[in-house]
Amino acid sequence: MLTTACIFDLDGVIVDTARYHFLAWKRLTERLGISFTEEDNERLKGVSRMASLEIILELGNMRPDESTKLKYATLKSKWYVDYISKMTPDEILPGCLRFIKELRGANIRVAIGSASKNTPMILKRVGLEELFDAVADGNIVSKAKPDPEVFVKAAEMVGVKPGKCVVFEDAVAGVQAALNAGMMCIGVGSPKILTEAHYVVSGLKEMNLEKLITIEKNVRL
Ligand code: G6P
Ligand code: MG
Repeated sequence: MLTTACIFDLDGVIVDTARYHFLAWKRLTERLGISFTEEDNERLKGVSRMASLEIILELGNMRPDESTKLKYATLKSKWYVDYISKMTPDEILPGCLRFIKELRGANIRVAIGSASKNTPMILKRVGLEELFDAVADGNIVSKAKPDPEVFVKAAEMVGVKPGKCVVFEDAVAGVQAALNAGMMCIGVGSPKILTEAHYVVSGLKEMNLEKLITIEKNVRL
């Protein structure tokens, strides 16, 4: 087997925080009088905070100055943090712990590659801060997915070449970031949305080491 590192996106792969992001953005858009649907929210998955705000302002045809933008992003984040500060280990998505422990047992490095600046807080809240060999997040990278920076950084942190990494991602921008990094990508979600991923599962509950080896054989031929 070629894979020696698995890099996991956090939001939507390890924990279901997408609904908290949605609720917080929804609150902001209601305040600003912008119509914002769950479908619009799909476009924000995997995208950094400021880049998400840009998409929302575009939906509302608004062009505020930089300091107002910062105020909006801060407000959204405050509401979001209110939600996630109440998270518990029950919110770890099914199959995640079992699969990651199986990978570790097989000597495969496991890392987080997330755009979120709240990654450390979320990992702590759900009791996962010890599980990963490395955490590359929005606090150490500046370029938003689909830029490959966050995955390249995660691979560097665990000392594995991109061609030997597999990324697990639930967002279109994240799948593109993985491909831009030259990594194999397993989408987590719907194959109708994650069309560019090498393979798609509905959740990590569908994954195990044997399956990873089979997928890899077909992709890395
Ligand atoms: C993840 C989520 C995005 C979110 C981004 C930044 O990638 O999928 O929806 O915008 O993180 O999150 P933050 O916690 O830093 O605002
Ligand atoms: Mg995600």
